[in-house]
Amino acid sequence: MASFEAPVATDRDALQKWKGQISLEPYRSYLYSYPHKTAYRALEPKLPLADLWQEEAAETFFLYMHIPFCGARCGFCNLFTLPDKRQDVHHTYVDALERQARQWADFTTHKPFARFAIGGGTPTLLAPDLLERLFDIAQNTMGLDVKKASISVETSPETVTLERMNILKERQTDRVSMGIQSFVETEAAAIYRPQKPLEVERALSVLKSYDFPVLNLDLIYGLPGQTTASWIYSLERALAYEPEEIFLYPLYTREHTIVKPGDLAQRDRDIRMSCYVEARDRLLAAGYTQYSMRRFARQGAESGKQTLPYGCQEEGMVGLGCGARSYTANVHYASRYGVSRRATESIIADYVAAENYRTADYGYILNREERQRRFILKAILHREGLALAEYEQRFGTRALEDYPELMNLIGADWAVLEDGVLALTADGMALSDSIGHWLISGEVRAQMEGFVLA
Ligand SMILES: C[S@@+](CC[C@H](N)C(=O)[O-])C[C@H]1O[C@@H](n2cnc3c(N)ncnc32)[C@H](O)[C@@H]1O
Ligand code: SF4
Repeated sequence: MASFEAPVATDRDALQKWKGQISLEPYRSYLYSYPHKTAYRALEPKLPLADLWQEEAAETFFLYMHIPFCGARCGFCNLFTLPDKRQDVHHTYVDALERQARQWADFTTHKPFARFAIGGGTPTLLAPDLLERLFDIAQNTMGLDVKKASISVETSPETVTLERMNILKERQTDRVSMGIQSFVETEAAAIYRPQKPLEVERALSVLKSYDFPVLNLDLIYGLPGQTTASWIYSLERALAYEPEEIFLYPLYTREHTIVKPGDLAQRDRDIRMSCYVEARDRLLAAGYTQYSMRRFARQGAESGKQTLPYGCQEEGMVGLGCGARSYTANVHYASRYGVSRRATESIIADYVAAENYRTADYGYILNREERQRRFILKAILHREGLALAEYEQRFGTRALEDYPELMNLIGADWAVLEDGVLALTADGMALSDSIGHWLISGEVRAQMEGFVLA
């Protein structure tokens, strides 16, 4: 990871140089959370969770359950997941998750849950009785009120069955999200995702027939063998199902996944930016609103329920299961992180063998600077932008004085300051990953660079 020079561009040349650095590699990595999980380390001493949660200021919490199993591991994926379809393995895992929930209920249920999500991996790989059990744990053990929380579940085409969708519907799921990546069979094969377009279309018809309030589809651009024309073909196939929400991901490649950066270097040019621009313009023309570089949704694409409000800064995140992250205002924690079969297997084995889930032993303690950076990052990479007064109210200081380098964004025409809100322009939004990467602190960057992936 390159680090940037001259954080505050004081003259034209410095600004040009800085712009060049930011534009050079627009898709370094997806900063889906800050600090990134690769910055987590063993916490010494371990932190008692009861104390941590008692002080949590968020008015409502987010309940997340992680199911770290998939039918097969896709060649690009570096999520915490294990290819394992064995039902006895899934059973033992859900038993452990229930044990953990019973213990955590003592200190995480004093505020209501405004959101509930089951993610993975592929949660719908679980047999229907286990899927039911996850909802039972959420409702009976954690006290989730399905009428007041918005509920989201991730799925994949081959696991969309009537029996499973009936369960999601009965439990008042608001949003079902399915990974498709590509409607072209050879493109799916090239990323080691054995997926037939007919199977995808079958799953989509089933999902449509259930009429969930929000159907989200994930697509990836920049796949090996993909052209801008075949990318737009996949986008049009997805649009034919009128999803309320679409996530567009640039392909991220890493040395440790099956699809490697070198696989893309064989092309004469990187098509990701042109794919992004074409797809963005097509979605805007089709009436979607852009909320971030990845997320597009039709206005009003929310559940019809009267759900509780939840802060967009995503604090008070109660993550159950192995691989789930939990966020309190100043401590983020999770189980250890690995990607190889061996590492994931051993981390999951430790999780299911555990009896005591009451301490945080791996994570990151956020000091004031990291909390400020997190606040800025979460706000600025989204449509709503950074409201300067909100920052000041929360931290008692001014964002542009604490981080004068933010002015570079305005100088580069990548952001505008209007009515006290610093928001990215279309060109800035297109460079979200790179801008996000630039805003990482030196300390977190050093931790990420020092992480040894197993
Ligand atoms: C948990 S998965 C979605 C559910 C399900 N497991 C599936 O793949 O169908 C989350 C999404 O992240 C995206 N993703 C994961 N790794 C990626 C990578 N290396 N490059 C681009 N997108 C990626 C994919 O679009 C994927 O659908
Ligand atoms: S992309 Fe989805 S199905 Fe593929 S390995 Fe990752 S989590 Fe599993």
